[in-house]
Amino acid sequence: LLRSCLVLPIGGAAMPVGVSLLNSYSGIAGAFAGFVIKSPLLIVVGAMVGAAGLILTQIMCKAMNRSLTNVLLGGMGGDEAVAEDARDYTSIKQAGPEEVAMVLDGASSVVFVPGYGLAVAQAQHAVRELADLLITRDVQVRYAIHPVAGRMPGHMNVLLAESDVPYDQLWEMERINGDFKNTDVVIVVGANDVVNPAAREPSGPIAGMPILDVDRAKHVFVIKRSMSTGFAGVQNPLFFHDNTMMIFGDAKKVMIQLAEAVRDYAA
Ligand code: TAP
Repeated sequence: LLRSCLVLPIGGAAMPVGVSLLNSYSGIAGAFAGFVIKSPLLIVVGAMVGAAGLILTQIMCKAMNRSLTNVLLGGMGGDEAVAEDARDYTSIKQAGPEEVAMVLDGASSVVFVPGYGLAVAQAQHAVRELADLLITRDVQVRYAIHPVAGRMPGHMNVLLAESDVPYDQLWEMERINGDFKNTDVVIVVGANDVVNPAAREPSGPIAGMPILDVDRAKHVFVIKRSMSTGFAGVQNPLFFHDNTMMIFGDAKKVMIQLAEAVRDYAA
């Protein structure tokens, strides 16, 4: 009961941090029980579980640029912030599958940016299908992996591995960021905060969070269902950029439509 109370204020999407903390608490409790019943094995195993949980918690907080206190005492953003942001979204450009196919036809490098929405839509197989299609046309295809994309460490790696995406196509943030300026097309699939240039501002809920510099690519397509915000609850200026076009819809359905459009365009 005490352990549950300690993580009670953690907001919905920060739950992975809560789960990791609970895991850590159970290890610490186990270690204490080991002292009580004089079991060195329980002490060692409990301490290891406790330490592992704490390290994981720390990694997640660091990648989100939030302190543990901040996570424990309250969530980012909130309904009010979302409502405010939704009103602000006015001037954006939208693209249909045919337009995307036309741009992809002239592209020699494409980077997919998977995010939480890809996981929700289970779009990993559909993304792989489009990627394979592009590769057969000699397009360089890569996936840009942000350390906190999704809701768990390694979330995107696991999903893409499930679709047998070759490991050498997965590029970590530090490795790919300098390359976006030479990239023809970026397709953001259900990601939001991890590509939000507002993180470069000196203040704000995500200030200082490292992001994927997708706005530096020639063309950026963002696939999501609406203009609603991501986990952090803040507006994303990327959606207003001249080189950005929004494609509204469920990530899996849109990816299937894009693959069909690319096949039809070339036929
Ligand atoms: P988010 O910022 O949460 O954005 C995900 C976007 O996916 C949403 O804006 C949503 O927009 C869209 N979406 C949801 N369902 C979809 C669907 N079926 N089809 C298409 N789009 C869909 O995700 P992110 O960019 O991956 O960033 C992760 C966030 O989670 C970060 O803020 C990070 O700090 C936080 N976080 C991460 C972790 C770890 S360790 N990974 C742990 C805790 C918190 P629509 O509703 O408009 O579709």
